[in-house]
Amino acid sequence: MYRNRTCGELRIEHVGEEVTLAGWVQRSRKMGGMTFVDLRDRYGITQLVFNEESDAELCARANKLGREFVIQVTGTVNERYSKNDKIPTGDIEIIVSRLDILNASDTPPFTIEENTDGGDDLRMKYRYLDLRRTNVRANLELRHKFCLAVRHFLDSKGFLEIETPVLVGSTPEGARDFIVPSRMNPGQFYALPQSPQTLKQLLMVAGMDRYFQIVKCFRDEDLRADRQPEFTQIDCEMSFVEQDDIISLFEEMAKYLFKEIRGCDLGNAPFLRLPWSEAMRRFGSDKPDMRFGMEFVELADVLKGSGEFAVFNEAAYIGGICAEGCASYTRKQIDELTNFVKSPQIGAKGLVYARVGEDGTVKSSVDKFYAPEVLERLKVTMNAHPGDLILIISGPDVMKARKQLCELRLEMGNRLGLRDKNRFALLWVVDFPMFEWSEEEGRLMAMHHPFTAPRPEDVPLLETDPAKVCANAYDMVCNGVEVGGGSIRIHDAELQARIFKALGFTPERAQEQFGFLMNAFKYGAPPHGGLAYGLDRWVSLFAGLDSIRDCIAFPKNNSGRDVMLDAPSFVDQTQLDELQLDLRPKDE
Ligand code: AMO
Repeated sequence: MYRNRTCGELRIEHVGEEVTLAGWVQRSRKMGGMTFVDLRDRYGITQLVFNEESDAELCARANKLGREFVIQVTGTVNERYSKNDKIPTGDIEIIVSRLDILNASDTPPFTIEENTDGGDDLRMKYRYLDLRRTNVRANLELRHKFCLAVRHFLDSKGFLEIETPVLVGSTPEGARDFIVPSRMNPGQFYALPQSPQTLKQLLMVAGMDRYFQIVKCFRDEDLRADRQPEFTQIDCEMSFVEQDDIISLFEEMAKYLFKEIRGCDLGNAPFLRLPWSEAMRRFGSDKPDMRFGMEFVELADVLKGSGEFAVFNEAAYIGGICAEGCASYTRKQIDELTNFVKSPQIGAKGLVYARVGEDGTVKSSVDKFYAPEVLERLKVTMNAHPGDLILIISGPDVMKARKQLCELRLEMGNRLGLRDKNRFALLWVVDFPMFEWSEEEGRLMAMHHPFTAPRPEDVPLLETDPAKVCANAYDMVCNGVEVGGGSIRIHDAELQARIFKALGFTPERAQEQFGFLMNAFKYGAPPHGGLAYGLDRWVSLFAGLDSIRDCIAFPKNNSGRDVMLDAPSFVDQTQLDELQLDLRPKDE
């Protein structure tokens, strides 16, 4: 028997008990004739004591233990003289009578402590050591609990967990696919699923009624803090439902998860449902962070054409936010904000500001272009008060300027401490446009995916004014993060064909790529719809993490690499030969 207790469970009531523990040496220190070793396992840390006076040979062996050695000890639980109230086992220690080294360890490349000295890359390379750190492990424990609660909830609502294949066909809509060559079908490729979207719809055609799956999805897209190329969805689909049915069920699920996992009661009131166009107008984002206000105010009526400032006079959009109490910002702070909005990631041309002094007068960076009455009107329109700072962004492209102002709003939210990780603001964004124009493709693309149903009242516009068609789609947003998204689907082959046409597919191409789905719709497809939650995003919100990477056991880095496995990597020529693949040098 390696152990009869864990390193996290011994308390004062166990004093006098003989125990055997096994674990890793967190650290050891010698004080006079005593050696203290912190022994760690998944459950906690227990202090071991070796006394030179009572057993010199044992103590000498203890002095040779290095960090991360794996050891087994037997000893007696003793009440500590100086207690440590920072850890649950801090009242006791083990007076060791026997020590066995189960495995030695090289000196780890960084300290296995909560505040490690290891940088990101090093920690990723030695992720198995990083995972020994209590805080990182706690994230995986939270993830486990989250998945259990998800399964419990969905099972109680009659959902069946059904696995779908990982080797599927490539679909050109959405992000780029990861593709996998087929040895048995030379020249042909599988794709890894970006989501099991069409398969779950086929499960509805198959009469499964309520499906879910905690499933890996793969998307070859640029990475961000909340994006990994391989991530996990809680994917769900239901038959005979309308948008309200889905929204209310998944809202109930979100509330259940908050209660179970965070012990947080979100109350009975339904979440706000914000139409997409309103979200864009008020926050410049389809995933607004509603923990704070600082809503956009459109200023074209006040500032366009009312002064000599050419930038505003030529702009398609002028919008401002009011940062309460920030009129005292120094030149340096304003410069920082200006540099922030002008950075390549944000891309604004500049930032205009106006301070409202304690006497109510307005002093702005564009004073010379505007009469005092105009600036006064600006103050009133912005509802700004003495001590406030008005920040204004403008631009020739409405959407782009709004996005830039959105980034500035979030930055101000951070600076003013308005984005508290322990507060949660949830809402639904609804009524998304059905299509968006893709510059890259030179055609309309589905904003959600091509299987999303248009709102019934908008169907007649499909051929005449597709830009005006809204989708029967909804996203759930929490603290500025899209935690889930879904839609009511098309279940009618003829409507599906019209959507493919609007997306620029010829009937032949639609048949070639999505024939399997359109054929299935000919055999009694029920009305259906669903949603997928992003598991990684939920867990990182609950754990207060800045990046979803920290709740994934073995994540990829920002270049999509697994630095621990050194993947992706080159393969042997024999493997390529078997697949009948030739590599050619990268085009210059
Ligand atoms: P969607 O593409 O909106 O919808 O994805 C659903 C949810 O998955 C999460 N997510 C991601 N998480 C981490 N890394 C990524 N790269 C990533 N991409 C998406 C988000 C998102 O809200 N089949 C549809 C769902 C449906 O219509 O039912 C779909 O995949 O939290």
